[in-house]
Amino acid sequence: MKKIVLFASGSGSNVENIVRYFQENKKSVIASVVLTNKRDAKVLDRCNSLNISGLYFNKNAFYKTDVIRNLLQDINPDLIILAGFLWKMPQTIIQDFPSKIINIHPALLPKYGGKGMYGNNVHNAVKENNEPETGITIHYVNENYDEGAIIFQAKTQLVDTDSIAQIAAKVHELEYAHFPRIIEKMLFKE
Ligand code: GAR
Repeated sequence: MKKIVLFASGSGSNVENIVRYFQENKKSVIASVVLTNKRDAKVLDRCNSLNISGLYFNKNAFYKTDVIRNLLQDINPDLIILAGFLWKMPQTIIQDFPSKIINIHPALLPKYGGKGMYGNNVHNAVKENNEPETGITIHYVNENYDEGAIIFQAKTQLVDTDSIAQIAAKVHELEYAHFPRIIEKMLFKE
C-alpha cells in the first residue's frame, strides 16, 4: 500500500481528481490525509464527500511548531503532493522528505513562477504578455517558490480571445489529465 499526503489551500479540484483516480483504478494508493491552511477551504467539503481525512492547520502550527512535521513523520508517506497549496514548505519538512515533495504549477516554469504567482495571477500575467501557449509544470519542491527540478510539463495553445476563466479551464484540463498519472508513475517506479 502506497501512502500519499496532499496539501491544498482552496477549491481542491485537483485533490478530488487525484483521490478519485486512485479509488477508481483500484490502485493500492491511500490518501492518508489532506492538509489545508484555510479553515473554510472547499477542499475540506470534498474530503467529506470522498470519505478521507481533512485537517486544517494555522501559520503558527506550520512554522513555529513541529505539529505538521511530526504528523508527516508518523504517516511516513511515499509522496507529499502540493495541489494548489500557497504557503512555502518549512525547511525542516523539505529536509525530512528528500525528493518526496512535489508541486503543480499552472504555467510553463521557469516563466510565471515565484512568490505571488498562483492561480489567476499566473493566468493574468500570461494573458497580458500575449503568450501563444501556457501549460502545467510538475516539479520537486525546494526552499524557493517554483524552483525545484522539473519532473513533467504539458502545453496548451492559447488564442487572443481566451478569457482568464478560459485559460484557467485549459490549464485545469491538463492538470486533471496528467497529474494523477505522473503521481502513479512516481509511486510505482521501482
Ligand atoms: C491549480 O491550477 C494549481 O496549479 C494552482 O492552483 C490551482 C488549484 O486549483 N497552483 C498554484 O498556483 C501554485 N502556485 P484546485 O484547488 O481547483 O485544485
